[in-house]
Amino acid sequence: MLKIKKSLLHQTFAKLSQIKVLVIGDLILDEYLIGSVERISPEAPVPVVWVRNEKQTLGGSGNVVQNLSSIGVNGIVYGRIGNDKAGESLERILLSNSVAKEDLVLLKSKTLPTILKTRIIASHQQVCRVDREEIVPLTEAEEATILETLKQKIKESSAVILSDYDKGYLTPSLIQSVISLCNAEEKIVTVDPQVSHFFLYKNIHIMTPNHHEAGKALGKKLASDSEIESACREISERITPDAMMITRGEKGMSIYERKTNTFYHIPTVAKEVFDVTGAGDTVITTYTAFVASGMSIKEAALVSNVSAGIVVGKLGAATVTQPEIEDALRTLGYLDEAV
Ligand SMILES: Nc1ncnc2c1ncn2[C@@H]1O[C@H](COP(=O)(O)OP(=O)(O)OP(=O)(O)O)[C@@H](O)[C@H]1O
Ligand SMILES: [Mg+2]
Repeated sequence: MLKIKKSLLHQTFAKLSQIKVLVIGDLILDEYLIGSVERISPEAPVPVVWVRNEKQTLGGSGNVVQNLSSIGVNGIVYGRIGNDKAGESLERILLSNSVAKEDLVLLKSKTLPTILKTRIIASHQQVCRVDREEIVPLTEAEEATILETLKQKIKESSAVILSDYDKGYLTPSLIQSVISLCNAEEKIVTVDPQVSHFFLYKNIHIMTPNHHEAGKALGKKLASDSEIESACREISERITPDAMMITRGEKGMSIYERKTNTFYHIPTVAKEVFDVTGAGDTVITTYTAFVASGMSIKEAALVSNVSAGIVVGKLGAATVTQPEIEDALRTLGYLDEAV
């Protein structure tokens, strides 16, 4: 069984606070209006929710930033917002999540709204969700603006995460430009892909789709270990990454290292599952941060699987901390405490 040396874990923890990880992708504001229902509306046969509490959190690529902040990593963020209140909220919340003002590079669209998903919750039940979004790809002019500063920000970062929610920020040409710049600067790129863009992500470090997404991209159903293995090989032949990771929900995850042609199947460590929302964001964030701070592919994958096991035991799009990771590694027998 793979174990992680306690000294390596502590060295990696120390390194986390020194690096910056660049997150590029679709920013979303998640909003929750929480209240109770006392009566049915006289206007239509619908409940009237009396709102007592309101909450706004980071969604989409913003959830990756929140995960970075929680493990003590500073983020550099590229994304798009609208010229509206939700955009102001996103900006404010990102700035309170380990992103410095000069590292928050937001394109403010004059025509598009900030992507906002509002959940109305009464007595712990979601009554409905209200979405505000216009999915429009970046314009050439917007891409040109992004590329003016991107090279410098890539230089300042240790790794780049592409968090693709298919909302228009990651266009094929931007994807290509980012990967070329990162390859030139020798910075690793990790990708949480959308099926429609799957094979555009060539020459990256790793891609982390779930088994449904990988299956859709290949037009196959992926269930058994051997089906997952041949999918990893097939995708790797087409995009030539250093490694390929497929997350498999309650089955944990599988990783393929292309150079050595080896597979690791890591079972989930979650004991209780409350909410799997955002587990994929936790996987890509912890994996990227730990590999960029000195761990091997295998070790970083193990840490990311353990981290996902922790977050699925919490409610909402949750995050993990360094002490939680160390405790879980110890409890699960993955920590080698010998000096
Ligand atoms: N039902 C579950 N039981 C146990 N562990 C789980 C479960 N769902 C997810 N996990 C853990 O979380 C990791 C990522 O989950 P999953 O494969 O569902 O990713 P995802 O579908 O991309 O998630 P997201 O909804 O955030 O996009 C898994 O590798 C596993 O470790
Ligand atoms: Mg996912």
